[in-house]
Amino acid sequence: MKDTIRQFIQHALTRLTEQGVLPEGLTPAIQVENTKDKTHGDFASNIAMMLAKPAGLKPRELAEKLIAALPADDSIAKVEIAGPGFLNFFQNSAALARRLENALADPRLAITRSGQAARVVVDLSSPNLAKEMHVGHLRSTIIGDAVARVLSFLGDTVIRQNHVGDWGTQFGMLLAYLEENPAAAESELADLEQFYRAAKKRFDDDAAFAERARALVVKLQAGDAQCLHLWRRFNDVSLSHCQEVYDRLGVALGAADVRGESAYNDDLPTIVATLRDQGLLVESDGAQCVFLDEFKNAEGNPLPVIVQKAGGGYLYATTDLAAMRYRSQELAADRVLYFVDQRQALHFQMVFAVARAAGLVRPEIALEHMGFGTMNGPDGRPFKTRDGGTVKLIDLLDEAEQRAFALVQSKNPELSEGELRRIARAVGIGAVKYADLSKHRTSDYCFNFEQMLSFEGNTAPYLLYAYTRVASIFRKEGTDMAAARGTIVLEADQEQALGAKLAQFGEVLGSVADKGLPHLLCAYLYDLAGLFSSFYENCPVLTAEDPAVRASRLALAALTGRTLRQGLELLGLEPLERM
Ligand code: ARG
Repeated sequence: MKDTIRQFIQHALTRLTEQGVLPEGLTPAIQVENTKDKTHGDFASNIAMMLAKPAGLKPRELAEKLIAALPADDSIAKVEIAGPGFLNFFQNSAALARRLENALADPRLAITRSGQAARVVVDLSSPNLAKEMHVGHLRSTIIGDAVARVLSFLGDTVIRQNHVGDWGTQFGMLLAYLEENPAAAESELADLEQFYRAAKKRFDDDAAFAERARALVVKLQAGDAQCLHLWRRFNDVSLSHCQEVYDRLGVALGAADVRGESAYNDDLPTIVATLRDQGLLVESDGAQCVFLDEFKNAEGNPLPVIVQKAGGGYLYATTDLAAMRYRSQELAADRVLYFVDQRQALHFQMVFAVARAAGLVRPEIALEHMGFGTMNGPDGRPFKTRDGGTVKLIDLLDEAEQRAFALVQSKNPELSEGELRRIARAVGIGAVKYADLSKHRTSDYCFNFEQMLSFEGNTAPYLLYAYTRVASIFRKEGTDMAAARGTIVLEADQEQALGAKLAQFGEVLGSVADKGLPHLLCAYLYDLAGLFSSFYENCPVLTAEDPAVRASRLALAALTGRTLRQGLELLGLEPLERM
């Protein structure tokens, strides 16, 4: 609806320009907001205040002219001027009701993408295979997956890329250890973290071992068959650990989505050669660097993007340049979204700029770093085990399910063990995911089991429970929620407020897709669940006497249930019929 109102305003602006009221050449960003207080209408715009000056009019005078120039359309009941010159739009509840009926009749809830469908590469998860996946990779995996689901739902072609760290100096150390202890390695590989620590200890303690490790990196990079064999075996084990986590999380990632750093090995010399041909390379202390004017340190000295070390080795940035070229030229992406820790923001700004300067990507491609903050422990400090080690993801998920099991059991002691396990899985894993998704992506956040498993506030249990309440109405009624259709009449305030919220679902999904911010969808679902509660308290559904009112309220309930369900699924949560 906001988009429609923006179009109406644009129409009025064009007419006023033609009439000479507004000067030619104005291209204002038209802002339309949802109002908090519905006595001021449903939407408000400050456009008359923004353009009063260039028009040479008082804001309220321009507002009057704008209203007169708006197109006639029955979706708006009236438009009023408020305060210094706000335009307040009142939705026509009959027109709103027709929209909701249309949504109800469509399995996709009448959601369409505004704008063209795009090819979008989503770079997500991307752990380093030398170590077991830990909580740091949780955010990228969960947020990236949710945004990818929303993009697909809106009609984009999504290509997931798990840019795993499967190459680099630490592999020499691991190979040296594997070579030295073939038997021990067999058992220790099951616990990668321990294997890594053991190898690291050998590396730190024994100079000869370290020497051997460095030689093995060189051999590996030169394509030595025995080294490659060990390296592959190691990565297979490590990837299978990751896959276990993805499956537990219910994240849509698999072997086909993995394209690790090593996949770009053969391209790296070409990337450096291209940069050289473009005249972008500068040698500094033997290393090959690109300096761009826009990147300077605090002292004003230029910052380099190093693409090749003095010894000839390539770096993380070189691989990212090769990956960008591949995504732009081979995958033909219109957008590439990087769900990577905020601390890599400068890295991405710099490699994006280098890729553009060197023409490694098509000029029209959008490269977007979707950074996120750090996940801290409940004490607000970086997440650590009691003995100071990194927390493994799988242990965290086990604990979440155990806690959810105890919680659900205390509420429903009569449920069977199997049923309890199933619900505990959806609630426990859902809680971990939702806690992450519901915060603004860029802020740091505290991981807190008590909070995320609470039935109050903006949490997974609250929303999953809200959905079961709607489902229970249809269970009692003995009909199928998905099949409910009906004429909707929005009379009571609670019906109007719920109806207006339901109509915003498509817009919210559009913002999640454009900005890569799933918390917008969480906040929306939370508001929707709250509005449904007050509707349900104030407007009897099954006990309504008038059959037309009853049918209308059932239709509203069905649309709420289906919107909640769709929203939860897009976030990667598993809706439950009862809990
Ligand atoms: N493996 C890297 C890390 O754990 C993240 C890679 C992100 N993606 C990328 N294209 N650089 O820090």
